[in-house]
Amino acid sequence: MLKIINVVGARPNFMKVAPVVEAMGRRGREFAPLVVHTGQHYDESMSDAFFRDLELPRADYHLGVGSGSHAAQTAAVMERFEPVVLRERPDWVVVVGDVNSTLACALVCAKAGVRSAHVEAGLRSRDRTMPEEINRRLTDQIADLLLTHSADADRNLLAEGIPADRIRLVGNVMIDSLLKHAGRAARSTVREDLGVAGRDYAVVTLHRPSNVDEPGAFARVLSALERLSERLPVVFPAHPRTRARAAEFGLEGRLARAQNLRLVEPLGYLDFLRLMSGAALVLTDSGGLQEETTALGIPCLTLRENTERPVTVELGTNRVVGTDEEKIVEAAFEALDTPRENFSARVPPLWDGRTAERIIDAIAEKS
Ligand code: UD1
Repeated sequence: MLKIINVVGARPNFMKVAPVVEAMGRRGREFAPLVVHTGQHYDESMSDAFFRDLELPRADYHLGVGSGSHAAQTAAVMERFEPVVLRERPDWVVVVGDVNSTLACALVCAKAGVRSAHVEAGLRSRDRTMPEEINRRLTDQIADLLLTHSADADRNLLAEGIPADRIRLVGNVMIDSLLKHAGRAARSTVREDLGVAGRDYAVVTLHRPSNVDEPGAFARVLSALERLSERLPVVFPAHPRTRARAAEFGLEGRLARAQNLRLVEPLGYLDFLRLMSGAALVLTDSGGLQEETTALGIPCLTLRENTERPVTVELGTNRVVGTDEEKIVEAAFEALDTPRENFSARVPPLWDGRTAERIIDAIAEKS
């Protein structure tokens, strides 16, 4: 019987961990899963809603870390996670993605002599100004098992000198959640509630420091969204960081005046999936959305200069357009003018809803 601690910390972790915990639960004779929530995200809309929507069991430990500077947050996770690891002495700790909690928990394991597995290993934007890029690179250096979602991730790891026997291509676990919950999401009334049912509309998310902490970049993107909203409704579920910066930079008035640009609270998993899957276009700086839109065949514009997920551009529906106002508007109108059947979207191999099984098989084999 393998005792496994599964770590969640921030919003993009929940949909990656839920299928793994569920798969372990199904094989209860082989796996005893525990869930640790670091508390990096703590708002109802950023955390609890996802536990409910994804049917994720209550956390066995909640570390209550909350917000802080990178150093303070990472250090607080480490300080509070270490006693849990020492008390539970798990066979493995599973960390996912690239948030501060991911690196902090992997580092605790490396020092405590406990094996860790990193789900979504090997992604590289090659942009070291992104906190996530630092988290990914360091986590991959210290984790014992690197579970990748695409062949480019394997190539990145091998190029960094990581031995092939630490790497296993398992596919994209986020797509397990997407496929599993598509039916329940279809019952959400979010499109009706927001008045976009049966219409063409765009969905926007924006929260990266490089976009929303920079007044210039934020204002440029906002100008592009205002122009886009003259053509179709634009729904913008705003991350707390984004709202706070909009207020700080005096952009709230502009957001309020653009009638067809609807700033709404962050949505739960099922509502967001429903909203995204009916969109004519998604504009985002999120990593996960680039992948979910690829799986759903929805045109996506990535409002960044680079992506750590090139497979979504090569095979999928994603275009990396940066934050230049003209470029965003031009690319958005081009996507909207292209008939949907002309999008040659392909779903990358192993994004098939069975990744969690492959993850736990890989852990069992390595044990
Ligand atoms: C974190 C991740 C990022 C991920 C994003 C998804 C890191 C370095 N970054 O960024 O990779 O894409 O989550 O959302 O780990 N806040 C709240 N309520 C919450 C959580 C945060 O109000 O529940 C506010 C706080 O003011 C906080 C700010 O948002 O200071 C930023 O939160 P933080 O966890 O530091 O980073 P994110 O920007 O959310």
